[in-house]
Amino acid sequence: MSRKPYNWKNGPDFIQQHSVAKHRILQSYLAAYFKTLVSSPNQDLLRLTLVDGFAGGGLYVHNDTRELVKGSPFIFLNATREAEYLINKDRRKPVRLEVDYFFVEADKHAHSHLDKVLRDDGYGTQIGNTIHLQHAKFQDQADSIIDFVKRKSPRNGRSIFALDQYGYKEVPTQLIQKIFAKLPSAEVILTFGVDSFLNYASDGKLTQSLLDEIGIPDVLNGRSMEDIKSSERDWRLFIQSGLYRTLVTRCGAKHFTPFFIRNNKGHGDYWLIHLSQHHKARDVMTEVHWDNNNYFIHYGGAGLDMFQMVGYDPDHDADHKNQNVLGFEFDDVARKASISALNEQIPKRVYANDEGVSFGILFATTCNDSPASAAIYRESVGFLIEEKVIEVVSEDGVKRRSAQQIKPNDQIIAPQQRGLFTL
Ligand SMILES: C[S@@+](CC[C@H](N)C(=O)[O-])C[C@H]1O[C@@H](n2cnc3c(N)ncnc32)[C@H](O)[C@@H]1O
Repeated sequence: MSRKPYNWKNGPDFIQQHSVAKHRILQSYLAAYFKTLVSSPNQDLLRLTLVDGFAGGGLYVHNDTRELVKGSPFIFLNATREAEYLINKDRRKPVRLEVDYFFVEADKHAHSHLDKVLRDDGYGTQIGNTIHLQHAKFQDQADSIIDFVKRKSPRNGRSIFALDQYGYKEVPTQLIQKIFAKLPSAEVILTFGVDSFLNYASDGKLTQSLLDEIGIPDVLNGRSMEDIKSSERDWRLFIQSGLYRTLVTRCGAKHFTPFFIRNNKGHGDYWLIHLSQHHKARDVMTEVHWDNNNYFIHYGGAGLDMFQMVGYDPDHDADHKNQNVLGFEFDDVARKASISALNEQIPKRVYANDEGVSFGILFATTCNDSPASAAIYRESVGFLIEEKVIEVVSEDGVKRRSAQQIKPNDQIIAPQQRGLFTL
């Protein structure tokens, strides 16, 4: 189920629906990103660099509808244009978006096709100015792009890197680590071909030197594939879970989301991983998942410790054995399951500590391991207040009565008098 390479030699190539879904996610995330970054009425400038490291040829034909579909470079360009309009339409002090774009593409036909379609669409004068079109491998351009961002935004290195590789080998974790080390506000949206990786592993082709090269040396934990396949009931889920942990840890980002792009053929074939250094960015991406539930699926649990149910502990839940997994579909059912899981888990976290925990810290320290958004955490905490399982107190000692009143610095504590049925 690995992705077939596109070919732009004779014009636009065909694109499958699940790749169009990825475009929608990128589009929704960028819209939310701009809105979050420009929230102050006094702001008049936003400096940003958008990097499309695997840009493609810019135009496709939809495999089912035969309509023309624009590629990721246009998603970036249009997102900025739309954000500039939406942000400024009701403001007295307009905000100027100073955005540079790097579109890097290794294949010569794809690169020249992208150049052509950008010019056809009126971007000719921007090419060489704010649009940096590079016929190269992303890995070879990464250092100079990082230096550019540092010069442009020395304080925070504000940037988004979309790294849409075909498989799993082109973006080693060392490279992502370097981006985060040098650019504190950078975010990375990485595609990772999990199924291709697992198929390769299954064929016994995975060597330690390849794992070292990708920057995930410890993914098999020193075990051989034969051993894993013979002793783990669901070896694919087992490796997948270890792979995810190794990958995100090695990339050096504090926050991440790892959900599958949905594929109608059954199990998703690749992850869209968002990596960032701030829980707010993580929450914005998680909301995008909930808002675009048609496109995502997650094969893990609903509450905290979502991966506890996958791979590491396949016996945990009968539904997850042998991949008879009921996918978590970011829909109403999933929302209810998330709230009810959090209703059980949050009190345990709160009671574990005499002083309780602030809402902000609870979210920031557990969100990586949960598909729930901050809004869902809030709904659960609101329910727990009503049920008198917990109390939520503001910094100046005011008790919160409902979910809407909860602020990040509010402390969640055990109630003064615990009810009969609380833990
Ligand atoms: C999945 S496609 C990109 C699709 C594009 N992001 C979109 O959504 O429209 C991957 C692209 O990366 C290019 N590519 C492959 N290896 C590359 C590398 N090391 N650096 C830059 N581009 C590469 C391929 O030629 C191909 O056009």
